[in-house]
Amino acid sequence: MAEAPPHRRTSPAAALKLEDFDPAARGVLPQGIYDYIAGGAEDEATLRGNREAFARYRFRFKILASADRPDLNHDVLGQRFTMPVHLAPTAIQRMAHPDGEAAAYQAASDAGIAYCLSTLSSLSIEDVAAAATGARWFQLYMHPERAISTAFVERAVDAGYSAILLTVDLTRTGRRERDIRNGFSLPEGLLYANLESGRRAATADGPDPFARNVNANTNAALGWGDLEWLVAKTSLPVIVKGVVRADDARHAVDAGARGLIVSNHGGRQLDYAIASLDALPEVVQAVSGEVPVLLDGGVRRGTDVLKALCLGASGVLIGRPYLYALAVGGADGVRGMLEMLREEITLSMSLLGARRLTDLNPDLLTRI
Ligand code: FNR
Ligand code: LAC
Repeated sequence: MAEAPPHRRTSPAAALKLEDFDPAARGVLPQGIYDYIAGGAEDEATLRGNREAFARYRFRFKILASADRPDLNHDVLGQRFTMPVHLAPTAIQRMAHPDGEAAAYQAASDAGIAYCLSTLSSLSIEDVAAAATGARWFQLYMHPERAISTAFVERAVDAGYSAILLTVDLTRTGRRERDIRNGFSLPEGLLYANLESGRRAATADGPDPFARNVNANTNAALGWGDLEWLVAKTSLPVIVKGVVRADDARHAVDAGARGLIVSNHGGRQLDYAIASLDALPEVVQAVSGEVPVLLDGGVRRGTDVLKALCLGASGVLIGRPYLYALAVGGADGVRGMLEMLREEITLSMSLLGARRLTDLNPDLLTRI
Protein backbone atom coordinates (compact mmCIF):
# COMPACT_ATOMS: atom_id res chain seq x y z
CA MET A 1 0.00 0.00 0.00
CA ALA A 2 1.50 3.36 -1.00
CA GLU A 3 1.56 6.10 1.62
CA ALA A 4 -0.67 9.15 1.27
CA PRO A 5 1.09 12.18 -0.25
CA PRO A 6 2.79 14.34 2.37
CA HIS A 7 1.93 18.00 2.72
CA ARG A 8 5.52 19.21 2.52
CA ARG A 9 5.80 21.44 -0.54
CA THR A 10 8.64 23.17 -2.31
CA SER A 11 8.14 26.55 -3.88
CA PRO A 12 7.47 26.37 -7.62
CA ALA A 13 9.32 29.72 -7.83
CA ALA A 14 12.58 27.82 -8.44
CA ALA A 15 11.24 26.37 -11.69
CA LEU A 16 12.32 28.00 -14.97
CA LYS A 17 10.88 25.41 -17.34
CA LEU A 18 8.28 22.66 -17.25
CA GLU A 19 10.84 19.94 -16.75
CA ASP A 20 11.99 21.56 -13.49
CA PHE A 21 8.74 20.47 -11.86
CA ASP A 22 9.69 16.81 -12.25
CA PRO A 23 12.60 16.70 -9.77
CA ALA A 24 10.71 19.08 -7.47
CA ALA A 25 7.74 16.69 -7.42
CA ARG A 26 10.01 13.72 -6.94
CA GLY A 27 11.25 15.41 -3.78
CA VAL A 28 7.78 15.68 -2.25
CA LEU A 29 5.96 12.56 -3.45
CA PRO A 30 6.27 9.05 -2.05
CA GLN A 31 8.35 6.92 -4.44
CA GLY A 32 5.41 4.73 -5.48
CA ILE A 33 3.27 7.69 -6.50
CA TYR A 34 6.13 9.44 -8.30
CA ASP A 35 6.92 6.25 -10.22
CA TYR A 36 3.26 5.73 -11.14
CA ILE A 37 3.12 9.22 -12.64
CA ALA A 38 6.57 9.28 -14.25
CA GLY A 39 6.71 5.73 -15.53
CA GLY A 40 5.83 4.10 -18.81
CA ALA A 41 5.32 0.57 -20.07
CA GLU A 42 8.07 -2.07 -20.22
CA ASP A 43 11.33 -0.59 -21.63
CA GLU A 44 9.81 2.92 -21.60
CA ALA A 45 10.89 3.25 -25.24
CA THR A 46 7.72 5.10 -26.22
CA LEU A 47 7.97 7.33 -23.16
CA ARG A 48 11.43 8.46 -24.33
CA GLY A 49 10.42 8.34 -27.99
CA ASN A 50 7.72 10.97 -27.50
CA ARG A 51 10.43 13.43 -26.42
CA GLU A 52 12.99 12.32 -29.00
CA ALA A 53 10.53 12.93 -31.84
CA PHE A 54 10.26 16.63 -30.92
CA ALA A 55 14.07 16.97 -30.88
CA ARG A 56 14.29 15.79 -34.51
CA TYR A 57 12.55 18.91 -35.84
CA ARG A 58 14.19 22.30 -36.30
CA PHE A 59 12.63 25.60 -37.34
CA ARG A 60 13.19 27.37 -40.63
CA PHE A 61 12.20 30.70 -39.07
CA LYS A 62 11.00 33.71 -41.02
CA ILE A 63 12.49 37.17 -40.61
CA LEU A 64 11.12 40.71 -40.56
CA ALA A 65 7.62 39.39 -39.96
CA SER A 66 6.45 42.01 -37.40
CA ALA A 67 5.44 39.17 -35.11
CA ASP A 68 6.15 41.02 -31.88
CA ARG A 69 2.74 40.31 -30.32
CA PRO A 70 1.59 36.93 -31.54
CA ASP A 71 -2.05 35.96 -31.09
CA LEU A 72 -2.37 32.63 -29.28
CA ASN A 73 -6.17 32.40 -29.41
CA HIS A 74 -7.33 28.99 -30.44
CA ASP A 75 -10.82 27.76 -31.34
CA VAL A 76 -11.81 24.15 -31.04
CA LEU A 77 -15.30 22.56 -31.01
CA GLY A 78 -16.87 25.99 -31.07
CA GLN A 79 -15.04 27.07 -27.93
CA ARG A 80 -12.37 29.77 -27.72
CA PHE A 81 -9.23 29.28 -25.65
CA THR A 82 -6.38 31.64 -24.82
CA MET A 83 -3.70 29.19 -25.96
CA PRO A 84 -3.59 25.85 -27.79
CA VAL A 85 -2.77 23.79 -24.69
CA HIS A 86 -5.18 21.81 -22.51
CA LEU A 87 -4.84 19.60 -19.45
CA ALA A 88 -4.94 15.89 -20.35
CA PRO A 89 -7.09 13.51 -18.28
CA THR A 90 -5.14 11.70 -15.61
CA ALA A 91 -6.38 9.36 -12.88
CA ILE A 92 -6.61 10.05 -9.13
CA GLN A 93 -5.07 13.52 -8.96
CA ARG A 94 -5.38 13.61 -5.18
CA MET A 95 -2.33 11.35 -5.30
CA ALA A 96 -0.37 14.43 -6.30
CA HIS A 97 -2.04 16.98 -4.01
CA PRO A 98 -4.95 16.92 -1.55
CA ASP A 99 -6.89 19.43 -3.70
CA GLY A 100 -6.54 17.11 -6.68
CA GLU A 101 -8.71 17.59 -9.76
CA ALA A 102 -10.46 20.67 -8.33
CA ALA A 103 -7.16 22.57 -8.15
CA ALA A 104 -6.03 21.53 -11.62
CA TYR A 105 -9.41 22.52 -13.08
CA GLN A 106 -9.27 25.91 -11.34
CA ALA A 107 -5.84 26.57 -12.81
CA ALA A 108 -6.99 25.56 -16.32
CA SER A 109 -10.09 27.71 -15.97
CA ASP A 110 -8.05 30.74 -14.86
CA ALA A 111 -5.67 30.20 -17.78
CA GLY A 112 -8.54 30.04 -20.30
CA ILE A 113 -7.93 26.47 -21.43
CA ALA A 114 -9.86 23.20 -21.13
CA TYR A 115 -9.57 20.71 -18.31
CA CYS A 116 -10.23 17.03 -19.08
CA LEU A 117 -11.53 15.05 -16.14
CA SER A 118 -10.65 11.35 -16.04
CA THR A 119 -13.33 8.74 -15.42
CA LEU A 120 -10.94 7.46 -12.75
CA SER A 121 -10.84 10.73 -10.84
CA SER A 122 -10.51 11.09 -7.08
CA LEU A 123 -13.15 13.86 -6.93
CA SER A 124 -16.53 13.31 -8.54
CA ILE A 125 -17.78 14.63 -11.87
CA GLU A 126 -20.11 16.96 -9.94
CA ASP A 127 -17.61 18.18 -7.34
CA VAL A 128 -15.07 19.06 -10.01
CA ALA A 129 -17.72 20.88 -12.06
CA ALA A 130 -18.53 23.03 -9.01
CA ALA A 131 -14.88 24.07 -8.56
CA ALA A 132 -14.62 26.51 -11.51
CA THR A 133 -16.46 27.78 -14.57
CA GLY A 134 -14.08 27.25 -17.49
CA ALA A 135 -14.37 24.63 -20.21
CA ARG A 136 -14.46 21.10 -18.88
CA TRP A 137 -14.35 17.93 -20.94
CA PHE A 138 -15.05 14.44 -19.60
CA GLN A 139 -12.77 11.52 -20.46
CA LEU A 140 -14.64 8.24 -20.67
CA TYR A 141 -13.27 4.80 -19.99
CA MET A 142 -16.00 2.47 -21.13
CA HIS A 143 -16.93 0.30 -18.20
CA PRO A 144 -17.46 -3.45 -18.72
CA GLU A 145 -21.09 -2.74 -17.72
CA ARG A 146 -22.69 -0.46 -20.29
CA ALA A 147 -25.21 0.91 -17.77
CA ILE A 148 -22.31 2.36 -15.79
CA SER A 149 -20.92 4.07 -18.91
CA THR A 150 -24.39 5.45 -19.63
CA ALA A 151 -24.55 6.90 -16.16
CA PHE A 152 -21.10 8.53 -16.52
CA VAL A 153 -22.15 10.21 -19.76
CA GLU A 154 -25.47 11.42 -18.34
CA ARG A 155 -23.75 12.80 -15.26
CA ALA A 156 -21.19 14.61 -17.42
CA VAL A 157 -23.97 16.19 -19.50
CA ASP A 158 -25.91 17.24 -16.39
CA ALA A 159 -22.78 18.73 -14.84
CA GLY A 160 -22.03 20.91 -17.87
CA TYR A 161 -19.08 19.10 -19.45
CA SER A 162 -18.94 20.11 -23.10
CA ALA A 163 -17.20 17.15 -24.78
CA ILE A 164 -16.61 13.45 -24.18
CA LEU A 165 -13.12 12.11 -24.81
CA LEU A 166 -13.30 8.38 -25.41
CA THR A 167 -9.93 6.82 -24.58
CA VAL A 168 -9.35 3.81 -26.81
CA ASP A 169 -5.73 2.85 -26.15
CA LEU A 170 -6.30 1.33 -22.72
CA THR A 171 -8.25 -1.88 -23.05
CA ARG A 172 -5.99 -3.40 -20.47
CA THR A 173 -3.41 -1.50 -18.45
CA GLY A 174 0.10 -1.57 -19.96
CA ARG A 175 2.86 -3.44 -18.17
CA ARG A 176 4.44 -0.76 -16.00
CA GLU A 177 7.35 -2.40 -14.32
CA ARG A 178 7.95 0.41 -11.84
CA ASP A 179 4.44 -0.21 -10.49
CA ILE A 180 4.96 -3.99 -10.41
CA ARG A 181 8.20 -3.57 -8.44
CA ASN A 182 6.52 -1.15 -6.05
CA GLY A 183 3.39 -3.32 -5.70
CA PHE A 184 1.58 -0.07 -6.44
CA SER A 185 -2.00 0.31 -5.24
CA LEU A 186 -4.52 3.11 -4.83
CA PRO A 187 -3.16 5.11 -1.86
CA GLU A 188 -5.00 4.76 1.43
CA GLY A 189 -7.89 7.20 1.76
CA LEU A 190 -8.36 7.82 -1.97
CA LEU A 191 -11.27 6.57 -4.03
CA TYR A 192 -12.50 6.35 -7.60
CA ALA A 193 -15.03 9.03 -6.80
CA ASN A 194 -17.27 8.34 -9.81
CA LEU A 195 -17.74 4.67 -9.05
CA GLU A 196 -20.15 3.50 -6.41
CA SER A 197 -17.78 0.68 -5.64
CA GLY A 198 -15.00 3.21 -4.93
CA ARG A 199 -11.89 1.17 -4.41
CA ARG A 200 -13.42 -2.25 -3.93
CA ALA A 201 -13.77 -3.42 -7.54
CA ALA A 202 -10.23 -4.82 -7.74
CA THR A 203 -11.19 -8.19 -9.16
CA ALA A 204 -9.68 -8.33 -12.66
CA ASP A 205 -6.29 -9.80 -13.62
CA GLY A 206 -3.24 -7.57 -13.69
CA PRO A 207 0.38 -7.48 -12.54
CA ASP A 208 -0.05 -5.03 -9.66
CA PRO A 209 -2.99 -3.99 -7.47
CA PHE A 210 -3.46 -0.67 -9.28
CA ALA A 211 -3.58 -2.31 -12.71
CA ARG A 212 -6.04 -4.93 -11.41
CA ASN A 213 -8.24 -2.14 -10.19
CA VAL A 214 -8.12 -0.22 -13.48
CA ASN A 215 -8.70 -3.41 -15.46
CA ALA A 216 -11.80 -4.16 -13.39
CA ASN A 217 -13.24 -0.81 -14.45
CA THR A 218 -12.38 -0.72 -18.15
CA ASN A 219 -13.76 -2.71 -21.07
CA ALA A 220 -11.09 -5.02 -22.49
CA ALA A 221 -13.32 -5.89 -25.48
CA LEU A 222 -13.75 -2.29 -26.67
CA GLY A 223 -14.69 -2.17 -30.35
CA TRP A 224 -15.96 0.18 -33.07
CA GLY A 225 -19.52 -0.60 -31.97
CA ASP A 226 -18.80 1.09 -28.66
CA LEU A 227 -17.79 4.31 -30.40
CA GLU A 228 -20.94 4.18 -32.53
CA TRP A 229 -23.02 3.53 -29.42
CA LEU A 230 -21.48 6.52 -27.65
CA VAL A 231 -21.95 8.86 -30.61
CA ALA A 232 -25.62 7.84 -30.83
CA LYS A 233 -26.08 8.12 -27.08
CA THR A 234 -24.94 11.70 -26.52
CA SER A 235 -25.41 15.04 -28.16
CA LEU A 236 -22.00 16.13 -26.89
CA PRO A 237 -19.12 15.97 -29.36
CA VAL A 238 -17.14 12.75 -28.98
CA ILE A 239 -13.36 13.02 -29.33
CA VAL A 240 -11.40 9.79 -29.77
CA LYS A 241 -8.17 9.74 -27.72
CA GLY A 242 -5.39 7.36 -28.70
CA VAL A 243 -5.31 7.41 -32.51
CA VAL A 244 -1.97 6.91 -34.32
CA ARG A 245 -2.95 5.66 -37.80
CA ALA A 246 -4.62 7.18 -40.86
CA ASP A 247 -7.07 4.28 -41.35
CA ASP A 248 -8.25 4.41 -37.74
CA ALA A 249 -8.52 8.20 -37.93
CA ARG A 250 -10.74 7.91 -41.00
CA HIS A 251 -12.84 5.16 -39.44
CA ALA A 252 -13.33 7.17 -36.24
CA VAL A 253 -14.49 10.27 -38.12
CA ASP A 254 -16.80 8.18 -40.31
CA ALA A 255 -18.23 6.70 -37.10
CA GLY A 256 -19.07 10.20 -35.88
CA ALA A 257 -16.02 11.37 -33.92
CA ARG A 258 -15.92 15.18 -33.88
CA GLY A 259 -12.24 15.34 -32.95
CA LEU A 260 -9.19 13.12 -32.56
CA ILE A 261 -6.32 13.03 -30.12
CA VAL A 262 -3.09 11.57 -31.44
CA SER A 263 -1.72 9.86 -28.35
CA ASN A 264 -0.01 6.74 -27.06
CA HIS A 265 -1.11 7.46 -23.49
CA GLY A 266 2.21 9.06 -22.66
CA GLY A 267 4.08 5.80 -23.34
CA ARG A 268 2.16 3.97 -20.60
CA GLN A 269 0.37 1.42 -22.79
CA LEU A 270 1.91 -0.38 -25.81
CA ASP A 271 5.67 0.02 -25.59
CA TYR A 272 7.46 0.71 -28.88
CA ALA A 273 4.30 2.45 -30.06
CA ILE A 274 5.10 5.20 -32.56
CA ALA A 275 5.86 8.62 -31.05
CA SER A 276 2.82 10.90 -31.05
CA LEU A 277 4.55 13.59 -33.12
CA ASP A 278 5.60 11.02 -35.75
CA ALA A 279 2.00 9.75 -36.03
CA LEU A 280 0.53 13.23 -36.35
CA PRO A 281 1.06 13.95 -40.08
CA GLU A 282 -0.75 10.84 -41.33
CA VAL A 283 -3.68 11.41 -39.00
CA VAL A 284 -3.93 15.05 -40.07
CA GLN A 285 -3.79 14.04 -43.72
CA ALA A 286 -6.48 11.37 -43.29
CA VAL A 287 -9.07 13.72 -41.86
CA SER A 288 -7.98 16.73 -43.92
CA GLY A 289 -9.48 19.53 -41.91
CA GLU A 290 -12.83 17.81 -41.21
CA VAL A 291 -12.28 17.60 -37.46
CA PRO A 292 -9.72 19.08 -35.08
CA VAL A 293 -6.70 16.90 -34.34
CA LEU A 294 -5.06 17.36 -30.96
CA LEU A 295 -1.85 15.69 -29.79
CA ASP A 296 -0.39 14.65 -26.46
CA GLY A 297 2.79 12.92 -25.33
CA GLY A 298 6.06 14.59 -24.44
CA VAL A 299 5.02 18.23 -24.83
CA ARG A 300 7.36 20.09 -22.49
CA ARG A 301 8.33 23.33 -24.29
CA GLY A 302 6.61 26.15 -26.11
CA THR A 303 8.61 25.08 -29.15
CA ASP A 304 7.09 21.57 -28.85
CA VAL A 305 3.62 23.12 -29.05
CA LEU A 306 4.66 25.07 -32.15
CA LYS A 307 6.15 21.97 -33.81
CA ALA A 308 2.91 20.05 -33.30
CA LEU A 309 0.88 22.93 -34.71
CA CYS A 310 3.23 23.26 -37.70
CA LEU A 311 2.52 19.60 -38.44
CA GLY A 312 -1.22 20.18 -38.40
CA ALA A 313 -2.37 19.77 -34.81
CA SER A 314 -5.08 22.20 -33.69
CA GLY A 315 -3.70 22.08 -30.17
CA VAL A 316 -1.98 19.88 -27.63
CA LEU A 317 -2.58 18.43 -24.19
CA ILE A 318 -0.08 18.02 -21.40
CA GLY A 319 -0.09 15.32 -18.74
CA ARG A 320 2.81 14.76 -16.36
CA PRO A 321 4.13 18.35 -16.13
CA TYR A 322 0.93 19.61 -14.57
CA LEU A 323 0.75 16.71 -12.14
CA TYR A 324 4.25 17.61 -10.96
CA ALA A 325 3.29 21.29 -10.70
CA LEU A 326 0.17 20.26 -8.76
CA ALA A 327 2.30 18.16 -6.42
CA VAL A 328 4.65 21.02 -5.60
CA GLY A 329 2.24 23.93 -5.52
CA GLY A 330 -1.43 22.92 -5.85
CA ALA A 331 -3.52 25.21 -8.07
CA ASP A 332 -0.85 27.94 -7.90
CA GLY A 333 1.78 25.51 -9.07
CA VAL A 334 -0.31 24.60 -12.13
CA ARG A 335 -1.11 28.28 -12.82
CA GLY A 336 2.58 29.13 -12.69
CA MET A 337 3.46 26.26 -15.00
CA LEU A 338 0.82 27.28 -17.53
CA GLU A 339 1.99 30.89 -17.58
CA MET A 340 5.56 29.66 -18.10
CA LEU A 341 4.40 27.65 -21.10
CA ARG A 342 2.38 30.60 -22.43
CA GLU A 343 5.46 32.84 -22.24
CA GLU A 344 7.56 30.27 -24.07
CA ILE A 345 4.96 29.90 -26.83
CA THR A 346 4.66 33.67 -27.19
CA LEU A 347 8.41 34.28 -27.39
CA SER A 348 9.05 31.36 -29.75
CA MET A 349 6.21 32.36 -32.08
CA SER A 350 7.58 35.85 -32.23
CA LEU A 351 11.10 34.61 -33.03
CA LEU A 352 9.69 32.13 -35.56
CA GLY A 353 7.95 34.97 -37.38
CA ALA A 354 4.39 33.73 -36.83
CA ARG A 355 1.71 36.23 -35.86
CA ARG A 356 -1.11 33.81 -35.32
CA LEU A 357 -1.57 30.05 -34.96
CA THR A 358 -2.84 29.76 -38.53
CA ASP A 359 0.58 30.98 -39.75
CA LEU A 360 2.12 27.73 -38.46
CA ASN A 361 2.70 25.19 -41.22
CA PRO A 362 5.15 22.45 -42.23
CA ASP A 363 7.21 24.91 -44.29
CA LEU A 364 8.52 26.32 -41.00
CA LEU A 365 10.07 22.98 -40.02
CA THR A 366 12.83 20.69 -41.19
CA ARG A 367 13.47 17.17 -39.90
CA ILE A 368 17.07 16.33 -39.05
C1 FNR B 1 -2.55 9.32 -17.76
N1 FNR B 1 -3.29 9.30 -18.93
C2 FNR B 1 -4.64 9.03 -18.88
N2 FNR B 1 -5.40 9.10 -20.01
C3 FNR B 1 -6.72 8.89 -19.97
O1 FNR B 1 -7.37 8.96 -21.01
N3 FNR B 1 -7.33 8.62 -18.77
C4 FNR B 1 -6.65 8.52 -17.60
O2 FNR B 1 -7.22 8.29 -16.55
C5 FNR B 1 -5.24 8.70 -17.65
N4 FNR B 1 -4.50 8.58 -16.52
C6 FNR B 1 -3.17 8.94 -16.53
C7 FNR B 1 -2.45 8.98 -15.34
C8 FNR B 1 -1.14 9.44 -15.34
C9 FNR B 1 -0.38 9.50 -14.05
C10 FNR B 1 -0.52 9.84 -16.56
C11 FNR B 1 0.89 10.36 -16.59
C12 FNR B 1 -1.22 9.77 -17.75
C13 FNR B 1 -2.66 9.71 -20.22
C14 FNR B 1 -2.74 11.22 -20.41
O3 FNR B 1 -4.05 11.63 -20.68
C15 FNR B 1 -1.88 11.68 -21.60
O4 FNR B 1 -2.19 10.92 -22.74
C16 FNR B 1 -0.38 11.61 -21.34
O5 FNR B 1 -0.07 11.91 -19.99
C17 FNR B 1 0.36 12.59 -22.25
O6 FNR B 1 1.72 12.48 -22.14
P1 FNR B 1 2.65 13.42 -21.22
O7 FNR B 1 2.26 14.86 -21.41
O8 FNR B 1 2.46 12.95 -19.81
O9 FNR B 1 4.01 13.10 -21.76
C1 LAC C 1 -3.07 5.35 -16.44
C2 LAC C 1 -4.50 5.07 -16.60
C3 LAC C 1 -5.32 4.97 -15.42
O1 LAC C 1 -2.44 5.68 -17.44
O2 LAC C 1 -5.05 5.80 -17.60
O3 LAC C 1 -2.52 5.15 -15.34
